[in-house]
Amino acid sequence: MHPMNSQKSIVILISGRGSNMESLLAAVAAGTLPVRVAAVLSNRPDAAGLQSAAAQGVPTRVVDHKQFADRVAFDAAMSEAIDAFAPDLVVLAGFMRILSEGFVRRYEGRLMNIHPSLLPAFPGLHTHRKALDEGVRVHGCTVHFVTPALDHGPVVVQAAVPVLDDDDEAALAARVLAQEHRVYPQAVRWFAEGRLRLVGQRVLLDAPQDAAGALIAPRVPAA
Ligand code: GRF
Repeated sequence: MHPMNSQKSIVILISGRGSNMESLLAAVAAGTLPVRVAAVLSNRPDAAGLQSAAAQGVPTRVVDHKQFADRVAFDAAMSEAIDAFAPDLVVLAGFMRILSEGFVRRYEGRLMNIHPSLLPAFPGLHTHRKALDEGVRVHGCTVHFVTPALDHGPVVVQAAVPVLDDDDEAALAARVLAQEHRVYPQAVRWFAEGRLRLVGQRVLLDAPQDAAGALIAPRVPAA
């Protein structure tokens, strides 16, 4: 096969700002993410990310959830829009709709999400507020394969950040978001390179790993 033909394609689903989408497009443009972004799809016509995707020459489509009677009808229309691009991987990037079981099963093993917490802690919304309310010292983000349970599924990668005493929701969110922008392109790259293997509920990574980046907090004070 010609090498060009073996390049994986992705479709990115957004609902709003689209900064994770931007990080993926930037990695593609920089040559560090060897995929073709076939399209960016949104369930909201006013998603800011649509404009920046279009400005970068990426095809965009809107499947407005308000135009559909129920979740299953919306999901069917969204599937149709996705399948028109025949992507290898569907990347949820701030896509704020709960997906039906049928939708999730259709893309099993090729549907990824990023969630702004260290799952299984804090599924759902307002994760940074919950982390502050609970007083956890470590927070972060998770890239995972999607299963029918909300914000659940085999973990591809997590990044952890400290929670500082004077953090507010915005400060903590910004610290986590910086990590989201780092790990999502990395996770998609691993998928595209065929380095991820699902064994039970665990994702095994066929890439050099070491413990050098291991997080130990608080640091043990020097003797
Ligand atoms: C991110 O924090 C993502 O993890 C969550 O929603 C937010 C979307 O931000 N699911 P953006 O649209 O990617 O800027």
